[in-house]
Amino acid sequence: MSHDRIPLAGVIGSPISHSRSPQLHGHWLKSLGIRGFYIPMDVAEGDLAEVLRNLPKLGFVGVNVTVPYKERVLGLADHVSDQATIIGAANTLSFRKDGTIYADNTDAYGFIENLRQSAPGWDVTAGPAAVLGAGGAARAVVVALRDAGAPEIMISNRTRLRAEALQQEFGRKLRVVDWVQAGNMLEHAATVVNTTSLGMVGKPALRVPLDGLQKDALVTDLVYAPLKTRFLEVAEAMGCVTVDGLGMLLHQAVPGFERWFGTRPEVDVATRAAALR
Ligand code: ATR
Repeated sequence: MSHDRIPLAGVIGSPISHSRSPQLHGHWLKSLGIRGFYIPMDVAEGDLAEVLRNLPKLGFVGVNVTVPYKERVLGLADHVSDQATIIGAANTLSFRKDGTIYADNTDAYGFIENLRQSAPGWDVTAGPAAVLGAGGAARAVVVALRDAGAPEIMISNRTRLRAEALQQEFGRKLRVVDWVQAGNMLEHAATVVNTTSLGMVGKPALRVPLDGLQKDALVTDLVYAPLKTRFLEVAEAMGCVTVDGLGMLLHQAVPGFERWFGTRPEVDVATRAAALR
């Protein structure tokens, strides 16, 4: 039956209307001439397990998973990748021919690839990294920085306990810095990452003092609405190399698209424009 089936993919979350993934994957499908579709799906919590079981029957080859289901899907998958296990969440599911679900997490990959492509001169081993925030996004960033070879990872969070939990889990390379002293850790950092939601439209501003930033530091924000946050604006004015958060979203989508549709897509200017439409 499946010989000429049109491959379907999509993104599951709730709410889902804000997701940029449908424009992004839609752009790749169209520009690569692939006969397939990518659909946003707002699924209620109580329906999640049943929906996942039924999607392959409809012709779905996989889905992305976003808030609030990234952790929950680990328990619904048949196979969980090492990355998803370490990060404790999955963002990319593949439905295999034998009917099983494979859960992976490509956020750490997307984070690093974005920096490699957007800041080619960046050297993660050049000095310590400083991470603001200790939520779900921070877990992927910490794993990415650790695996890429950051010599030290300083982490500061409003709720200190969450940063300490990460330290417990990811070990000696991590050092917890109190939130009131977050500005101080920037003085030694070669890589600085905001993983909090501060600075996002509708959220309070990030109030950490930035005057300690080193001029040759790479500064990046996971917030991409607005694209240029005040945090990035200040860093840029101080001479730092800055990278916005849209690129991580684009790069984390690459492995899923390749697995589902069989072609590895490029992340370029047109891709960015499509995701912003
Ligand atoms: P995500 O999965 O996107 O990281 P999250 O797990 O809710 O979302 O984490 C949000 C991050 O933003 C956390 O580090 C949070 O700090 P707390 O752990 O103290 O909640 C941070 N954050 C959100 N609002 C904040 C605020 N007003 N001041 C300081 N940090 C804030």
